Parts: sequence; C-alpha cells; structure tokens
Amino acid sequence: MDEVSTEFLAYIIGIIILIIFYIIKLPRIGANEPPLVPYTIPILGHTYNYFFNARNFFKKCKEQYGECFSIYVFGRVMTIVSRSSLNEVFINHKDFKLSLSEFLPFDMLFENISDFDKVTQLNAKLVKEITGKIDSYTSIMQKYLLEGIDKFIGDCKDPKEFLSIWELMNHIIALPMANIIVGEEVASHEDVNDTLEFYTSQPDFDYSNPKIFHYYIDVLFVLIFGSVGTTSEIITNGIFDLAGRPECLNELYEEAMIIDKECNGSITLPDVQKMKKLDSFVKEVLRHSDDTLKFLHKVTSESFTFSNGYTVPKGRRVNLYMDDVLKSKDAYGDDAEEFKPFRFVNANSSASKVDRNYAVFGGGKHACPGRFFAIHEIKLILHKLILKYNIKTKSGKIENKKYIGPISLPPKKALIFENRK
Ligand code: HEM
Repeated sequence: MDEVSTEFLAYIIGIIILIIFYIIKLPRIGANEPPLVPYTIPILGHTYNYFFNARNFFKKCKEQYGECFSIYVFGRVMTIVSRSSLNEVFINHKDFKLSLSEFLPFDMLFENISDFDKVTQLNAKLVKEITGKIDSYTSIMQKYLLEGIDKFIGDCKDPKEFLSIWELMNHIIALPMANIIVGEEVASHEDVNDTLEFYTSQPDFDYSNPKIFHYYIDVLFVLIFGSVGTTSEIITNGIFDLAGRPECLNELYEEAMIIDKECNGSITLPDVQKMKKLDSFVKEVLRHSDDTLKFLHKVTSESFTFSNGYTVPKGRRVNLYMDDVLKSKDAYGDDAEEFKPFRFVNANSSASKVDRNYAVFGGGKHACPGRFFAIHEIKLILHKLILKYNIKTKSGKIENKKYIGPISLPPKKALIFENRK
C-alpha cells in the first residue's frame, strides 16, 4: 500500500471509531422519563452551557421543558428537578443517595470506612443528642470563638486588610468545634462529656482493636469535616453580605449592643434566640447562597416515579435546581431575587426551620440534624464580630461570589476590619 492510501485508511478508521463512540455514548431515554433537552454538539452535549452559562441555561430549560428535564453533561444524562418535585428527592431517602463522592474522593480520605450510610446515621444520632444540650455548649463555643477572633483577627486599631476570609473563618470555627467534640475542655464539663463517649459506648467499640479504633477516628473526622466546611462557608458569605451593606451592619450592631448589654457579654441560648434581626439576616444569607444546582443524588432503587408522573431509572444522576426553590416568586414574592436582610423578622420563620421553599438543610426525616447547632454558631460568631469590628469591603462595593458552573463559592476579595470606637 502506498503512503497516501495508508493515510486515507487511518482517516477512515478514525472516523469509524468516532461514530462507534458517538453511538455508544448516545443518551438513551426511556418511556415516561423527563424530556431530554436537545443539543447540537455530539458528545459534548450541554457541558458548555452547564459550565459557562448555568443560571440562564437552566432558567430557559425550565421555561421550555417544565418542572423536570434531562441534560447531557460529561458524557452522561443528568436529570434536573425543580421546585415542585425537588422535595421528593429529599423525602424519598431510600430511593436517592447523595452523591458527594463525585466531587470529593471520600474513599481515599476515609479508607477505614466502607459503609458511609451507617456512619451518617451514627453521626446524625450523635448530633441530635448534642443539639438537645446546645445551651451547655454555648459558653464553650463563645470562649473559643473569642479566642479564635483574637488570635486570627486581633486588634484592628489601625484598619487591617484580610484576603482569605473563608480560610480565616475555618481557623476560627475549628477551635470551638474541636473543643466541643474532642478538646480537653470537654472533659471538665460533665454535661457535655458525651461526644467521645457516644462513640466509645457503641457495642462494637474496642480500644484494643486498631481496625475498629481507626474506624471510629474516621467517623469522627467525617463529622468534623462535614460540619466545619459547611458552617464556615455560610459565615464567610454572611461577612461579605454585611461588609457590602453598611446600613445593614449598623442595624445589626444596634440589636447586638442591646443584647450584649442585657447579658453583660455572656451569651446564653435565650440571648441567641432574641437575635431576631440577625436570624433573619442569616436566613437571607443562606437563601442567597447562589448555587444554581446543588446536592447531586443518584437513584438507588430500580426506578423512581415522581408525583408528576415522570420516571427516572436506577443509577440516574439527579441534580436539584436550588435556585428555582430559593428564589421562587411564589414563595418569596416579586422581590425574591433581592437581598433583603430583614425580610423574615416578623415572618415566624427562623433560619433553622426546614421548609420545602427553604431546602438549604434538605428535608424530611434526614434533614440536616446539625442545623440548630450551625445556626447557633453562625449567629454567635457574627454577633461577636459585629460588636467588635466595623467591616468593609476593600472595593466599597458588594462583592460577587465565585461561580464554578452551577456551584457558587464565597467571594475571594479583600475585607477591611477596624475596631469599633
Ligand atoms: C450551614 C451549615 C450546614 C448546612 C447548609 C448543612 C446542610 C445539610 C444537608 C443539605 C444535609 C442533607 C440532608 C438530606 O439528605 O436530606 C445535611 C445532612 C447532615 N448534616 Fe448538615 N449542614 C450544615 C451543618 C451541619 C453541622 C454543623 C453538623 C454537625 C454538627 C451537620 C451534620 C449533618 C449530619 C450528621 C447529616 C446527615 C443526616 C442524615 O442523613 O440523617 N451539618 N446537612
């Protein structure tokens, strides 16, 4: 064979391989499934829009294809579930499984754990026990939060600029978390000495068996890992939301001063409950977390049929259109898109209350059991920061979050902290 025909043959083989690959990867949609949004570029499907145009793309898809629809990303079909059906994913826990391992290599991080469901249930039980005694933890939380604020932010008589706010908040809240869960302080408080005891009193716990011992250490890390990251992200968003809105910061400062005077600087649970404006602000911060999609799940049962009649098969990735819930005009009114810090003050709707229009903590039986703890801690740290500092964005503007496709992260911009006079 001469050189030209060899080259020609290579082209033909290449094209055949591409066609076979395309046919193999062609999404197959069964009867009764949500409609697949059409796409023009084979193999790539909707991946570009998913990454670079998420907000508008999903808005348009919902307008055209309705409540549930499927898209083709990363060579696989993903079903998107909007407001009216979204809660069904949380409620039907046995049919759907949260698919965190698609983002984080959990198996590598926690190699002593094989059954994450079992660990989650154990930790959920522990967190419910801790929540029942949240008042006992308030003084420890307060002590270590103040220590963290002093250590990592300190005296800002001369204004100080901070760049990595999320990292800063992680450092500050790790202190109270670690001291509540494993610190020496815990041992001296009889009331609150039950966290480690909870693990050590499990029927299979055995100090002398390294395998079991390491398993429980991993279980503890899963709890710390899950609780610190989520809480500090919301605190960081909250600080940016305050720093860009001086009038809101001033109003919260006034509330904080009244409460601080009443309790003489030593906060208890009832004092945190009195922080109505701060609670409303925190709820608005959570509502504006700004993830278009969140909480990717996988269908674990043979198939699942939503109450709207659509069926999704086993293994299907189901992502939740959170923006559709949290910015719903039906639920929040025509100004749903606006950040209104005090919109919940007289609404009898606290930041930790689970509601199908406020799905930030999930829903149903498995809704986040740590939400009371998280909101308590978020309010406590914001209260202390608001009392101590005037906080501004360096730019003088409200800073935008960072977006990675449909996921949002806190802004990565500079903030200025200055002591209050
Ligand atoms: C603002 C911070 C937090 C957010 C936004 C958050 C959100 C969530 C969400 C969405 C779920 C899944 C619910 C479901 O599958 O229906 C969850 C589960 C869980 N969270 Fe949180 N969480 C936060 C803080 C915490 C904290 C501080 C703790 C522990 C002290 C915690 C412990 C747990 C546990 C143990 C589960 C598993 C519950 C179960 O499957 O029964 N979370 N959280």
